[in-house]
Amino acid sequence: MITRSGLALTVSLCTLGAGGVLAGEQPQLPNGKGKDVVEAVCTGCHPVTQILNSSGYSREHWAELIGTMIDLSDSRETRDEVVGYLTSHFPPNTKRVSLPVAGTHQIRFQQWTVPTLGQRSRDPVEAPDGSIWWVGQFGNIMGRLDPKTGSMKEFQLPENAKPHSVTIDADGNPWYTGNANGTIGKLDAKTGEVLKVYKMPDPAARDPHTAEFDRNGILWFTLQQSNMFGRLDPKTGDIKLVTAKTPRSLPYGVKIDADGTPWYACNGSNCLVKVDAKTMEQTEIKLPTPGTTVRRLDIAADGSIWFVNSAKGKIGRYSPKTGEIKEWDSPSGPASHPYALAVVDGIVWYNESGVRPDMLVRFDPKSEKFQSWSISSGGVHAGIIRHMRPARNGDLLVHQSSTNRIMRVAVKGVAPSS
Ligand code: HEC
Repeated sequence: MITRSGLALTVSLCTLGAGGVLAGEQPQLPNGKGKDVVEAVCTGCHPVTQILNSSGYSREHWAELIGTMIDLSDSRETRDEVVGYLTSHFPPNTKRVSLPVAGTHQIRFQQWTVPTLGQRSRDPVEAPDGSIWWVGQFGNIMGRLDPKTGSMKEFQLPENAKPHSVTIDADGNPWYTGNANGTIGKLDAKTGEVLKVYKMPDPAARDPHTAEFDRNGILWFTLQQSNMFGRLDPKTGDIKLVTAKTPRSLPYGVKIDADGTPWYACNGSNCLVKVDAKTMEQTEIKLPTPGTTVRRLDIAADGSIWFVNSAKGKIGRYSPKTGEIKEWDSPSGPASHPYALAVVDGIVWYNESGVRPDMLVRFDPKSEKFQSWSISSGGVHAGIIRHMRPARNGDLLVHQSSTNRIMRVAVKGVAPSS
């Protein structure tokens, strides 16, 4: 609760924790009228670095952007002071501009704004009945969207789960990774009731991150900061964990190949890791460029492993059959930080999260040509896609983490809208 000039504002969704740092370590906002109130209102969920590193906005767009994070409608004076400060100190800048690539392919975005502000909406995934589940990591929320009607329902998760991701089991029930309390949980798809919570058997296994079911119903998952990889058998509740071979390799994205073998990406090292599904023995594939880090990967129908080289601004392909590794520079350059990635019908889709606007990029491996589109949230460009997965019809499900948006993108080639 922040009290100022007799006005009471509730900043209740989160306190520093998810991505936050202690006050003493923070870079400072420039001095000026409104600085104190911005610090008070804007650091409940993230440090002021989000503001310092932002691409800057006009008055109208600052008001729109913060309106996706916090409701200041009851306190006009505070809102005007915050927006005034941001507008005069952080006008639009060119620090992180993206370099769009034009082309002839047409796509179409459809977007929804999820109810709870500032929840860090992410990781939308389609259930067999066509509904789309997402998690609101900061808000400790799991949400369900009916894309036909646009109706949405949010479910609060057990305390401090801070879900990183959601995946759907063969019965259509959503499972979340409890990134802050070392759990994995299962919800009833119809009622949203938490059916089961599995606690990690080892206290060192703190942060379940991304999870995928194999066709036998086994859940495979990464634990980034714990530097582990895990296996959960829902039939017995048995959980097995292995520690990554390379210290601080930061296991991140995970996918299962056609043979049922799990692969994970190293967000702290230049590796892809193949895991034996029976023994959990890990085989590291070293990627050639020094300094490489890989957030996410996907596996094409021909078995090749596509990955983002986030730290170096590239995407790459590893062919398990031949051992060949090939990389391509992402259009927006070395600082473009490719992040999420999905292969749809042989075409590689990913985003450039280090630049603004965050770009959705299409790469055709046959022609080796790129095309890209900026991702808007209403009138503003802000936020990052942190995970993308296709719906069953081949549309891509994406999101923007800063602006409470869940999106569906028809990527397979649509007629130009008239
Ligand atoms: C209730 C939580 C919450 C509060 C309060 C909040 N934000 Fe945010 N903000 C977010 C989330 C979530 C993100 C996305 C973070 C991520 O993806 O890592 C974000 C990201 C941002 C970004 C980055 C935009 C981009 O380029 O992606 C800016 C700038 C920002 N916030 C400004 C503000 C300002 C200014 C305030 C105060 C008026 C504020 N925030 C208060 C939740 C919040």
